[in-house]
Amino acid sequence: MGMRVPLIAGNWKMYKTREEALEFARRFKELYRDTDIRAAVIAPYTQLDVLVSAFKGSGVGVGAQNVHFEDEGAFTGEISVPMLKELGVDFCIVGHSERRQYFGETDETVNLKLKKLLRESDITPILCVGEVLAEREQGVQNEVVSGQLEKDLEGLTAEEAGRLVIAYEPVWAIGTGKTATPEQAEEMCAMIRNAVSEMFDEDTCDRVIIQYGGSVKPENATEIMNMDEIDGALVGGASLDPEKFMDIINF
Ligand code: PGA
Repeated sequence: MGMRVPLIAGNWKMYKTREEALEFARRFKELYRDTDIRAAVIAPYTQLDVLVSAFKGSGVGVGAQNVHFEDEGAFTGEISVPMLKELGVDFCIVGHSERRQYFGETDETVNLKLKKLLRESDITPILCVGEVLAEREQGVQNEVVSGQLEKDLEGLTAEEAGRLVIAYEPVWAIGTGKTATPEQAEEMCAMIRNAVSEMFDEDTCDRVIIQYGGSVKPENATEIMNMDEIDGALVGGASLDPEKFMDIINF
């Protein structure tokens, strides 16, 4: 893993009220004390301010689940990078498969969002890539993911790409209870690192944090985290409970 510091991020999706978020933060801060694995909570917009305050000085990062690529404008329902900067968030997911599936996110908009975050903020993008079940069954998962990377990272400098977190999330493993085997996850994360090396250089691919995501839970976290090319996890369902999330972090 070299110089890379592992990162375990919890993607809350559309769960928790502000009150529930605060309750989580209170408990999680106690559990997280003295941990050296980096952790972050990726929450709905309405909870970001309370979480940033609650986690101040605790070492726990806070992130948003999406962002628009323009600073401002007539884009009803959207939130911009300057707006996130004002809240003091550390991370922002870009291109989650649920955004790609249900909200028209494309590789082109993903690319614009990454450029905006990397060029105009210190917010670390967590870029999600991954194949759907039919593609895995046809054996074209490597082509699908490398195709996503080519378009998503187009025009980035090596320095910019080196600041990314990339989450490999096979869509068939998200929320299904079906995890990729550690070998399948490792193989794809190695392929992703190799693709980054080919698009940029060796140094950039050494820097990039690559996470696995898809039904990660306390029972399978150890075998996933022990893989050489996997630097962390993006955890959905199991991150909603502070004890469970902490068990994953303590893999
Ligand atoms: P899951 O979600 O852990 O509930 O499968 C992962 C994700 O969508 O990031």
